[in-house]
Amino acid sequence: MTRYSVLLLAFLCALVTASPVFPAFFSFPGTRSGNKPISGDSPLQQCDVDEKQVLDIKLVNLLPNPPVRGENVTVSAAGYVKETIEKGAYVDVEVRLGYIKLLSQTYDLCEELENNDVGGLKCPIKAGDYMIEKSVEIPQEVPPGKYTVLARAYTEDDDEITCLSGEIYFPAY
Ligand SMILES: *[C@@H]1O[C@H](CO)[C@@H](O)[C@H](O)[C@H]1NC(C)=O
Repeated sequence: MTRYSVLLLAFLCALVTASPVFPAFFSFPGTRSGNKPISGDSPLQQCDVDEKQVLDIKLVNLLPNPPVRGENVTVSAAGYVKETIEKGAYVDVEVRLGYIKLLSQTYDLCEELENNDVGGLKCPIKAGDYMIEKSVEIPQEVPPGKYTVLARAYTEDDDEITCLSGEIYFPAY
């Protein structure tokens, strides 16, 4: 799982460089404006709710919730896309373990959708209602702890598509 190797590498780098002289590692994840719960059973919230967003998320379910290390988690989600999302859309992802920043990276949204087969979704994503379901295995090797995830997606023209944030706790046993 390449995403996980990136995570692990980032984790090791963070461990080596994390110290009080790097205050960035100890700041809280920033959201520009309020959060709003998302319908369904998931640890996710919608953030930047005062910003105009291209995606209107209606429902997100995780099964099981919370996800368990070494088991599959199935994510199902429903939403309404207000305007066509073209190639060039991107998503900024930030993952923290406790206060340590593990990962801060920008992904090409359309490439990720094609490489990971998310319900056959492909750019351009035309305006309309969508429902997706995707199963992924959470590796047993994921270090236990409290993870904070913040993801902001943007169109090729830098309009915000959505902002998601959430906390997932993986117990040691
Ligand atoms: C996760 O799902 C895949 C595909 O259905 C399956 O092959 C795999 O054994 C499952 N893993 C676990 C840990 O249940």
